Amino acid sequence: MSNTGLEGVVVAQTSLSAINGEKGELIYVGYDIDDLARNTTFEEVAYLLWNLRLPNRAELDELERRLAAEYNVGTEIIELLRALPKNSDSMAALRTAVSALALYDPEANDNSDAANRRKAIRLTAKMPTIVAAFDRIRKGQEPIAPRADLATAANFLYMLNGEEANETRIRTMDVALVLHAEHGMNASTFAARVTAGTLSDMYSAVVGALGALKGPLHGGANMRVMESLRTIQESGQEPSAWVHDALGRGERVMGFGHRVYKATDPRATVLRELADQIMQGGEETRWLDLSDKVREAMGTEMEKKGKKIYPNVDFFSASVYTTLGIEMDLFTPIFAISRITGWTAHLFEQYANNRLIRPKADYSGPRGLKVEPIETR
Ligand SMILES: CC(C)(COP(=O)(O)OP(=O)(O)OC[C@H]1O[C@@H](n2cnc3c(N)ncnc32)[C@H](O)[C@@H]1OP(=O)(O)O)[C@@H](O)C(=O)NCCC(=O)NCCS
Repeated sequence: MSNTGLEGVVVAQTSLSAINGEKGELIYVGYDIDDLARNTTFEEVAYLLWNLRLPNRAELDELERRLAAEYNVGTEIIELLRALPKNSDSMAALRTAVSALALYDPEANDNSDAANRRKAIRLTAKMPTIVAAFDRIRKGQEPIAPRADLATAANFLYMLNGEEANETRIRTMDVALVLHAEHGMNASTFAARVTAGTLSDMYSAVVGALGALKGPLHGGANMRVMESLRTIQESGQEPSAWVHDALGRGERVMGFGHRVYKATDPRATVLRELADQIMQGGEETRWLDLSDKVREAMGTEMEKKGKKIYPNVDFFSASVYTTLGIEMDLFTPIFAISRITGWTAHLFEQYANNRLIRPKADYSGPRGLKVEPIETR
């Protein structure tokens, strides 16, 4: 019996994260996501995933210094981004640039743990620079050089807009990065581990992960959520009527449902609270208001069908990012600039205890055929 989708199949041991889908709980290395989102920064979480413990002050300072020293991507990558078509898919552009980074890293093919740890820092430091530079170049603007005195979230917003963001915006971005950093054996992490399982290099594994993350059933969902919100807004239809019609057509409403969570995704809860904080800071509220209405409508519709489908992390990240003034097609790249920490942490585990990942397929095609000469076929 084949198990398409590998649902419930355990393919690795990990110390990085655990999900209790029934209760809607997520922990990174023992810490509840709620606690981490409230009390740590993205860099602390990166340290946690890479070292399996939280850093002390000196260790955090050292990691921040090392990341900042690697923020620059070099002129080759900027020139590459300039050469891309202006209408390039943002994830395809990121995937291309990350693939190219390998060509300029003398350690690209060194699979030792020490080299892989240095590469994890480089990738985490450089991916936000790539995303921000891509966004500016395609708009006909000059890329903005990273600032070593800013941490990842603040630096990213600075490179996107050319001015320092306010504290609320920086904290919002930072929490979003904490929430997306790690999530068990999701499709992109699995893709990364499958690639590393052949003893291919870390960049190739990350490029594979980026390809998997790009899909609408995984990281691409947050962008689709925003597309739906815009469609509702433009149609002038009541959100409840729109949801009813979409489900009636047999469509999926993006930002709902999850392979593992059978309760509200705890990350969605944190993001919704964060959204409230941004609104108190005087930001525009229409997208969050609309999201709340869609959530309510989904709840009602699903109740009628006797099903329970809850919002996932993508549902509120869409309206939160839009409220921060971020272009819709950067949502998935932002997911990637956070998840790179989880991917690389999984890769440390994979390389440390590697076995080729090679499942089987159930053959259901014909047997016993004989090749007929091409003239008589
Ligand atoms: C995430 C997702 C792919 C999980 O899929 P899965 O584990 O394979 O779950 P299934 O496709 O078997 O769905 C189970 C049931 O719930 C329904 N369902 C799941 N997600 C739904 C959604 N977003 N909208 C409407 N119905 C949904 C399915 O139609 C199915 O109903 P059925 O049993 O009557 O056929 C799926 O929920 C989905 O497509 N969500 C939208 C995309 C999204 O937000 N992705 C981001 C995930 S973080």
